[in-house]
Amino acid sequence: MPGTLPEGEPVPADGSLPPSAAARYGQQPFGVYVHVPFCRTRCGYCDFNTYTASELGGGASQHEYPALLASEIGLAAGVLPTPKTPVSTVFFGGGTPTLLAPARLGGILEEIDKALGLTDGAEVTVEANPETVDAASLRELRRQGVTRVSFGMQSAVPHVLRTLDRQHQPGRPEQCVTWAREAGFDHISLDLIYGTPGESDDDWRRSVQAAIGAGPDHVSAYALIVEEGTRLAAKVRRGEIAAPDDDALADRYLIADDLLGQAGFTWYEISNWATTSEARCQHNMLYWTGGDWWGFGPGAHSHVGGTRWWNVRHPAAYAARLTAGESPAAGREVLTPAEQRMEDIMLRARLAEGLPLTALTPAALHHSERALATHLADPSAFAAGRLVLTRQGRLLADAVIRDLT
Ligand SMILES: C[S@@+](CC[C@H](N)C(=O)[O-])C[C@H]1O[C@@H](n2cnc3c(N)ncnc32)[C@H](O)[C@@H]1O
Ligand code: SF4
Repeated sequence: MPGTLPEGEPVPADGSLPPSAAARYGQQPFGVYVHVPFCRTRCGYCDFNTYTASELGGGASQHEYPALLASEIGLAAGVLPTPKTPVSTVFFGGGTPTLLAPARLGGILEEIDKALGLTDGAEVTVEANPETVDAASLRELRRQGVTRVSFGMQSAVPHVLRTLDRQHQPGRPEQCVTWAREAGFDHISLDLIYGTPGESDDDWRRSVQAAIGAGPDHVSAYALIVEEGTRLAAKVRRGEIAAPDDDALADRYLIADDLLGQAGFTWYEISNWATTSEARCQHNMLYWTGGDWWGFGPGAHSHVGGTRWWNVRHPAAYAARLTAGESPAAGREVLTPAEQRMEDIMLRARLAEGLPLTALTPAALHHSERALATHLADPSAFAAGRLVLTRQGRLLADAVIRDLT
């Protein structure tokens, strides 16, 4: 969730969709994102739309939050055309979803099922901070219908966790994976961050090895982004710590890809590795392959049939809108066919399955031939009519993709 919301056109107070979106609803798989905008403390690097109790200042409470989500879910059911496309993926993200008790998350899931319908075998993911769960709460989450859990491990190294302001002790995420396995989750993921100031290559190796050793079937590894307006950015600006260096970041990416590859993980998106195709995050795949989704909660973004919209950011503003019986959407944009094509190329180029060369304009095709000649595009995929990045290409993905759009 970006730090600021885009401009856009206003959304009708009842939240109704433009005719073009309503007409195309049902042609793509449908997912649901539920944003939980609460954290116990704020990590210095994070600019997600999340609030500690003191930042909220009593303006909106965790206690009232599920009821507000239920009213937005009711609003969605009212404006999405009938018959409803059943929801094949649900993702509770944050913030810290596990600050809400498992039964409350289960209650929200039930509202989604009642209003929109869940497919048989729907993937239901919850992001969990390791210090907020234990064996019993994970068992309860599983009992409530959650199928997949994603733990924010970030690092296994004490000084790195400290620099990141993480609240859990080293070893806790690995313990969480064991508990989650015992609780019977279908899929378990760990999030890692590389490039934290002070982290060495060996520190990073230790973190990746610890993650692999815990036995998840999915790992995400993100380069640390110094987001404007965060405490981390202020420290970098004052020269107290050094910003992550591009060469070091590239080395860390290759270390992760090597270690994960040796342990039986395969990359399927630049920052994501899984042991099997079933272990891939179906919800994220839906984002990356042009699916439709409704994002519930403050600041959440949605996309249906070529229309994108986003909710007001502050939980108090979100509560006020819904309490007044109005849509919490702050703005929307109807994408032109050219914008949709461009977005599709940008997202698919990051996937291991890549994209068909036929999707490219003549100019972009010319650039992709250059990517092939400079070993950034995979030759056998290219011969078969697809653009797939090589390992070197993944390191330079932003530049390659810029040339394609
Ligand atoms: C926003 S968090 C929400 C989940 C949970 N609260 C947590 O922190 O684990 C989702 C993931 O985004 C990643 N993330 C957040 N801010 C980041 C940043 N500035 N740079 C890189 N990754 C970041 C972290 O790996 C985190 O696990
Ligand atoms: S716990 Fe997660 S969402 Fe909350 S501040 Fe830290 S990184 Fe951001």
